[in-house]
Parts: sequence; structure tokens; C-alpha cells
Amino acid sequence: MAAITPLLRLLPVLLLLLPPALLKYLTASNGPAKDTGVGELHPIVLLAGLGCSDLEAQLTEAYQPSVPRCGAMKGKGWFSLWQNTSDLLAQGYVQCFEQQMRLFYDPATNDYRNLPGVETRVPKFGSARAFHDKNPLHPKRCLDNVREALEELGYRDNDTLFEAPYDWRYVPPAPGQISQIYSQFFQRFKALVETASSKHEKKVIIFAHSYGGMVALEFVRNMPLAWRNRYIKHLILSAPTPSTGFMRMIQGLVSGSEHMIYVPTSDTSLRTLWRTFETSIMGLPSPNVFGHEPLVVTKQRNYSAYDMEEFLAAIGLEDSIEPFRRRMVPKMNYFEAPMVPMTCINGVGVRTPQQLLFWESDYDISPEIVYGDGDGI
Ligand SMILES: *[C@@H]1O[C@H](CO)[C@@H](O)[C@H](O)[C@H]1NC(C)=O
Ligand SMILES: *[C@@H]1O[C@H](CO)[C@@H](O)[C@H](O)[C@H]1NC(C)=O
Ligand SMILES: *[C@@H]1O[C@H](CO)[C@@H](O)[C@H](O)[C@H]1NC(C)=O
Repeated sequence: MAAITPLLRLLPVLLLLLPPALLKYLTASNGPAKDTGVGELHPIVLLAGLGCSDLEAQLTEAYQPSVPRCGAMKGKGWFSLWQNTSDLLAQGYVQCFEQQMRLFYDPATNDYRNLPGVETRVPKFGSARAFHDKNPLHPKRCLDNVREALEELGYRDNDTLFEAPYDWRYVPPAPGQISQIYSQFFQRFKALVETASSKHEKKVIIFAHSYGGMVALEFVRNMPLAWRNRYIKHLILSAPTPSTGFMRMIQGLVSGSEHMIYVPTSDTSLRTLWRTFETSIMGLPSPNVFGHEPLVVTKQRNYSAYDMEEFLAAIGLEDSIEPFRRRMVPKMNYFEAPMVPMTCINGVGVRTPQQLLFWESDYDISPEIVYGDGDGI
């Protein structure tokens, strides 16, 4: 997180420094046919990173609360489940939150779902105020600076500026993969782009940060090529890796999610919750990139990107092996370009975790971290 913040602060500057070349290209109408309409600005859709979207829940009759008080909202309609995490603590709702947020992998459909009786939805789709960080210590982590810079350039909420919040507990599918949650999300995103585009007679720019970049990439790759050509002006991905990078994803699985999502409690059961999310097994290192490099080092044996299934078993996550094999490995091997104009912003030459040492194989203590050259996340 610490490493992301400087980059984020830099983004509006980058955006403003891009003129006259890219910025002019992004904001002026310089294209053929579709791009000759009224106004100056190409509509922009923003996607911020992990945990930035809010989530609402409602509890139906089928819900069986872990303790009776967790059933208090049963039958009472939609309420905020992930919106103000300080409030979760203040209301004594953390235990209920953990039960109502958790996901299950269903081998029959090869997809993830909520607990029976828990329905969830992402509010404020399309609004340019859909994302906000839950951590009061860095309230602007969710693309706020970029949004403000765009507003200074003349962008307006629900006219030229939009956000596409998504359920970040789930992983966006590569083309051909099933995901009930994302197929609905992609339909809404598609309609949003089409409406914004036809209103302004311009193609649309998608600007995404961190995990939002992975969602934006899969959205574009899941659309037909003709649609992309017709509607997408530019895809801008800033540090589009999982939150805090590949080694931190391993560390998150082992030790908990405090690097990824913010809940103001040291309750170790949050690690259990995090491990139920599809996102927890996303972004493990791919053999295509990391090869046989030892990534986790213990006295007995080392684990490379080839050994992730054994590593999941070693940390007690046997249940995650099947979804990892069936949902993540195919994504690791999917290399099709999005085939739209694209800019990718990444750090280089920054101190980056490269290896985790759990010498005594005690996964309940923090590892020693070996750093190397990388993008800092
Ligand atoms: C979040 O919840 C806390 C604790 O209930 C409260 O003090 C704070 O004002 C809330 N923040 C917002 C932005 O609503
Ligand atoms: C957004 O704009 C559309 C028209 O372009 C309008 O129908 C809709 O009500 C607006 N939504 C909000 C939340 O203002
Ligand atoms: C694990 O990797 C380290 C290098 O990072 C190496 O020194 C060590 O010999 C390896 N251990 C085993 C058991 O292969």
C-alpha cells in the first residue's frame, strides 16, 4: 500500500503532464467518423482498486445466522455491508460481516457464490462518486486524485465522467470462462459505455488503477472486437496488478488481508474471510513469468510458481486447489492482447518483494522478505 500511494499521487500529475500529446489525444476529437461529434471531451470511465467499491446485502428467509443477532437484518431489505468499516466495529457487526461477506466455491458450476440467504449488490454503478477508500488514513487511494484532476479539465459526473464499481471479492473471467457476477457487471459496463458514447458521439476512455486494471482488461477482452473498435478510444492501466503485487498475494493468503482490504480489527478470523474470496487466489505468480525461481523458502523445501498447489496445501488451503486449477491457471495462460489503443503505467527499478522466508514453516508469523528490482508493488 505504501508503495502504491506515491504512484497514485503522481497520477493526476502524469495526467496533466501528458499534454499536449496524449492528453490532447485523449480529450480532443481527432478520430474519424464516430469521433466528430459535439463537445471536446471523450467520456471517461474510472475503475479503482480492490476494496474501493461499496457492497450492499440483504438477508432472505434462507439465511441462517451464525449467532442470533446476525439475523437482525433478515427480511429488512438492502443495507450497507462494505461501506464504512469503522462502523462495523462500532456496531459490533464484525462477526456478522464475516459470515455475510464470505464466498463459497461451487465445483458443480465452477463458480463462486454467496452464503445461501445472502444476496449482495454493488451500489452507485455509473456515478463518479462510487469508489472510496475505507481506510481513514489514506482516504484518497481510490482514484480520487485522478477524478479531481479530470473535473478540473471539465469532466462532469454522469455526463462525461463515470465510475464502474465491481464486486472485488470475485475475479474477472478471461474470455470463455464462466462468472455469473461478472457477466452481469460486463452487461452494465457495456451499456454505460454505449450510452456515454452515443450521448457525446465519441468513443470512451477507460482509466483503471491496480486491481481495477485487471477488471477493465477483462471487460475489454470479453467484448467482441467490432464493439471494441466502435466504442473504445483508449484503455489506460495504471499499475494493473493485484493490490500490492504478486508476492503480497502469497503473503495475504498466508497471513491475512491487511495489505489488500481494510477492516479496523486485528481479528485473525479476517484471514479466514479473505481466504474465501476468489480474489485471494488470484495473482499468484505464474510459471510463465517466475519460472523455477524459489519464491517461498523454508528449511525443508522451496516453492516456485510451479508449486503453488503444494503451497496451498502446506498452508491448509486444500479447498482452494480446485478453483485455483480450474479458474486461475487458465487465466495465467491467456495472453490475448485487448486490441485497443492502450497505455500501461508501471514503476521500474523500485525495491520489490521477491522472496518470502518462512524458515521454520510457521505460517502464523510474518515472513522475512527478500527484496529485488521491480515495480515496487
Ligand atoms: C463511519 O463510522 C464511524 C463509526 O460509527 C463514524 O464515527 C463515522 O462518522 C462514519 N464515517 C462516515 C463517513 O460515515
Ligand atoms: C444520469 O444521466 C442520465 C441522462 O443522461 C439521467 O437519465 C440519469 O437520471 C442521471 N443519473 C443521475 C444519478 O443523476
Ligand atoms: C531454496 O532456495 C535458496 C535460494 O533462494 C537456496 O539457497 C536453497 O538451497 C534452496 N533450498 C532447497 C531445500 O532447495
